[in-house]
Amino acid sequence: MEEIIKKITVIGGTGMLGRPVARELIRAGYDVTAMVRDTGTAASKLPEKVTLVDGDLASKKDIAAALKGADAVYMNLSTRPDVKKYDTFIAERDGLENVLAVVSQINGDADAGRGTGAGNGPGAGVASDGGPGAENAGSYRAGKPVKRVAAISSLVHRYQGTAGFRWWVFEIKQWADKKLREADVPVTVFYPSSFMETMDQGGIMQGHRLMLVGNSRQPMHFIAGSDYGRMVAEAFRHHDESDQFYDIQGTQALTFDDAALEFIKNYRHGPLKITRVPMWLIKMVGTLNSEVNYLAHIMDALNNYAEPEPDPSVWKKLGRPKDTMVEYTRRL
Ligand SMILES: NC(=O)c1ccc[n+]([C@@H]2O[C@H](COP(=O)([O-])OP(=O)(O)OC[C@H]3O[C@@H](n4cnc5c(N)ncnc54)[C@H](OP(=O)(O)O)[C@@H]3O)[C@@H](O)[C@H]2O)c1
Repeated sequence: MEEIIKKITVIGGTGMLGRPVARELIRAGYDVTAMVRDTGTAASKLPEKVTLVDGDLASKKDIAAALKGADAVYMNLSTRPDVKKYDTFIAERDGLENVLAVVSQINGDADAGRGTGAGNGPGAGVASDGGPGAENAGSYRAGKPVKRVAAISSLVHRYQGTAGFRWWVFEIKQWADKKLREADVPVTVFYPSSFMETMDQGGIMQGHRLMLVGNSRQPMHFIAGSDYGRMVAEAFRHHDESDQFYDIQGTQALTFDDAALEFIKNYRHGPLKITRVPMWLIKMVGTLNSEVNYLAHIMDALNNYAEPEPDPSVWKKLGRPKDTMVEYTRRL
């Protein structure tokens, strides 16, 4: 039976990389619901056509309500610099686990004839908070209410274990990846390279300066959020019962330093300068400050991770990214 995905619930849609995905899903004609923690703020960040549902990932009840009638879920979850290793709830880990448990229960209930079929309802036996979760779910067959779970991961987390590098944030990404691969619903996992948005929205730009940490040794295939969003939208068209995994890369390879120079040359809102901070200094301050420690780890990985060459079959299937760093920057 051919299944078509029409209605997608986005979780994390207000995030830096959730916004372009929500926008492109709407442009591609999907019916998009976003589960958000603050509908007021979310309304100013997301297209009007997105249906906003109040909810928190800590609540399975909220997740179930946000998944009402959804054919698929897209998760844009992160472990932000202010999150602590021993926090009891981490969105990218515990939130993802809750979403998978709710999806499993919705699909399991539909299987057992207790759900409402195509229009799964929040009251239809779905887990309440602290509920039993996934144990009654069967393996996936076509015809279930939630047909696919998709999520953003990252390319650079594969640096884990290289040159003695270990970081608990990448451990969460590895764990999330494993959970998705083991899920009893078809999954799509995207592994993007660095986003161009990092330059202006991701903490690199501080006033009129671009802060570069350490020495960027490896070229990355930077991608714009809008290109990524289009690729995500296209991926949902390729729904079947298989799991899908895509490395997402732009067309141009640039080190962080090259990218910063391109950005400075093409930025139209005033002159920018580079401030270079030595890695040893960031690592030293990082022993006292957990957010600086986060910066030291992510920059260490980005500076040293050797990305694979882009896979042309991904561009062929999901569309070739259009933006170079020059085009992205000139549009700002
Ligand atoms: N930056 C890059 O170049 C790059 C490259 C590859 C992969 N990635 C990966 O992309 C992912 C997303 O990044 P991002 O920058 O978009 O992250 P982000 O801005 O931190 O977005 C996270 C989203 O999760 C939501 N959220 C957090 N806790 C929640 C909860 N308890 N309940 C409901 N929603 C919750 C946030 O909502 P609020 O708005 O309410 O806080 C926000 O919408 C990360 O995992 C990152 O590693 C990034």
